[in-house]
Amino acid sequence: MDADAASFANAVLTWQRRYGRHDLPWQQQDAYRVWLSEVMLQQTQVNTVIPYYQNFLTRFPDLKELADASIDEVLQHWQGLGYYARARNLHKAAIIIRDQHQGCFPRDFAELEVLPGIGRSTAGAILSFAFGQRWPILDGNVKRVLARCFRVPGWYGQSATMKQLWYLAEAVTPGEYTAEFNQAMMDIGSMICVKSKPKCEACPLKDMCASYRHHSQAEYPQKKPQRVKPHKRTLMLLHRCDEQILLWRRPPSGIWGGLWSLPEVDEASAVELWQQSFLSIVQSPRALQQDVIRHQFSHYSLDISLAIIELEALPDGISDTENYAWVDTKDIGKHGLPTPVRKILSLLQE
Ligand code: ADE
Repeated sequence: MDADAASFANAVLTWQRRYGRHDLPWQQQDAYRVWLSEVMLQQTQVNTVIPYYQNFLTRFPDLKELADASIDEVLQHWQGLGYYARARNLHKAAIIIRDQHQGCFPRDFAELEVLPGIGRSTAGAILSFAFGQRWPILDGNVKRVLARCFRVPGWYGQSATMKQLWYLAEAVTPGEYTAEFNQAMMDIGSMICVKSKPKCEACPLKDMCASYRHHSQAEYPQKKPQRVKPHKRTLMLLHRCDEQILLWRRPPSGIWGGLWSLPEVDEASAVELWQQSFLSIVQSPRALQQDVIRHQFSHYSLDISLAIIELEALPDGISDTENYAWVDTKDIGKHGLPTPVRKILSLLQE
């Protein structure tokens, strides 16, 4: 490690001892818990994650409990956190560790990195936090700290930019106290080197930060020129018969993959055809509610309208019994549902 890298690491570690976070529930825990926290934290803020993390561990206290559970139950405990591919990958990886690693969490970077949902940064975080190994990390917070400190050109989607960021992450990561250092980099990113109005006066890297020196903090990390987010629309069908409603299990890939939801069509004129194909009945909606909810995804927004269809009697059959089910309203909580769908259903029950 050269002198600059050593002084970078020292400044970060000294700051960590005094100001870093030392009481997060996944600190000083076993690899299973560290892994779970890192996956939850991949796209979600610490404060949101904490109650989910604790609740998840109450139901799945160890790797075997998770691997042996059904994907439906795992998704149910993930509901509300979003980015459900994380839960499916977590479950798949747990099964692989149970079946191919004798239930022992891999301590080898190459074995860990190939598991579903664990990329280079998450593998580095797990191995440094759980086993004290020296691996660099590069999550969103760390990328921002490095991009500003070294004025790295380009945006994260560009391979040259990522290559340079990984090179820097590798160069500044110390061989000792790697866990503390990695935690500190995340903490500096989320507490000081925040996206807008960074608190540079409190930053341990102030004297080494090229953006600070050039007053160009606002220009880094550089942004990809933005395109406007497209709008999409969908019409959800709420078939109701007494206390039962018809739910649809979404395909495993795509938005809300594997979660239970309401059946959907593109527009009102398609309702009849849908009913004929799936329920062998036709019944016009009692009410059509336009744009009940607008849901924001990372690359588009979705306007959801709702058609409420009251049935006198349950139809005789459903054409696809594996992915459609009549569910009693009091049992809906047992199904993993996307947050906006849950909101729509609870609005209706009020
Ligand atoms: N984001 C990702 N991993 C984290 C961690 N261990 N602590 C705080 N924020 C994080």
